Amino acid sequence: MLQIPTSTAKLSAKSAFDGTASYNLVKNVMPEIEWSIHAPYVEAIQALKRERNAVILAHNYQTPEIFHCVADISGDSLALARLAADTDADVIVLAGVHFMAETAKLLNPNKTVLIPDERAGCSLAESITAADVRDLRRQHPGVPVVTYVNTSAEVKAESDICCTSGNAVKVVESLNSDKVIFIPDEYLAAYVAQQTDVEIISWRGHCEVHERFSGEELDQYRNDFPGLTIIAHPECPPDVLEAADFVGSTAQMQEYVLTKRPPRVLMVTECSMSDNIAAGVSDVEFVRPCNLCPHMKRITLENIHDSLKSLAPQVLIDDQVAVKARLAVERMLAVA
Ligand code: 13P
Ligand code: SF4
Repeated sequence: MLQIPTSTAKLSAKSAFDGTASYNLVKNVMPEIEWSIHAPYVEAIQALKRERNAVILAHNYQTPEIFHCVADISGDSLALARLAADTDADVIVLAGVHFMAETAKLLNPNKTVLIPDERAGCSLAESITAADVRDLRRQHPGVPVVTYVNTSAEVKAESDICCTSGNAVKVVESLNSDKVIFIPDEYLAAYVAQQTDVEIISWRGHCEVHERFSGEELDQYRNDFPGLTIIAHPECPPDVLEAADFVGSTAQMQEYVLTKRPPRVLMVTECSMSDNIAAGVSDVEFVRPCNLCPHMKRITLENIHDSLKSLAPQVLIDDQVAVKARLAVERMLAVA
């Protein structure tokens, strides 16, 4: 997967603090006055990371000062899961939402995994329980369950295999089944159903951020901004995906912009995506709208710092749940 050109950010985050070099990574999207508030935290976090032998994994929706200046690894849910499995750090800080931190813990049961704010949830994860999955299995005996990673460990534990937005079709087809139960995102399920002959039984979960976009709104943007390229996340409603020029996971959206360099682009997703790419790219005009994910935005430099200092809050998963949930995540990693 193509990484956004922030490898220098990742390197500098591990070495001694250089305020000018760090600010250079975000100066295209951040006034100096704002940087002056962030700089002391960036310096302190970098020192704490060395002290604790810690890594920070940041999702693509984190704000630029986190994404570019303190993260060691950044990416979509799939990349974070893969890279979490590989790290030799003692402590993992997940700058993202709770299900991502749980995935990191499942893959690193003996490491300390921190989530700087335990309230960083996800409307998709909230939309389904383990009992709901058991009910679905009773209604559709013998049909395998594919579960989007945006779910709790308890729900993963009731599943055959996990998937992300970046590998959903491949995972569904890997099961060699005529029919699968695909939970919990109804729109991602509809998008997958369009790409495969496998019959998809879906659930009624939605992402509260992506469901707010509409195809009508995008048509208006096309009228107002000639030459606009629209790229969307598959958690968006079907009319939005219909109106888009490209659909993909956050990493695939990022790769599209970095490789194709559309002169004008609208990224139909969370706001920080455009900011993080714009920080390193000057030949692309980013047209908003965007919607904020209130859960992702609970993570700040301040609570990353506090979490590294106190080694809390830690992510803990019941052993019996973890054994089964880990299997579902590992099966996914073995497929794609
Ligand atoms: P990605 O796996 O595409 O990064 O998506 C995660 C997510 O929560 C999007 O809303
Ligand atoms: Fe969940 Fe949507 Fe936020 Fe992603 S953007 S973490 S799916 S609420």
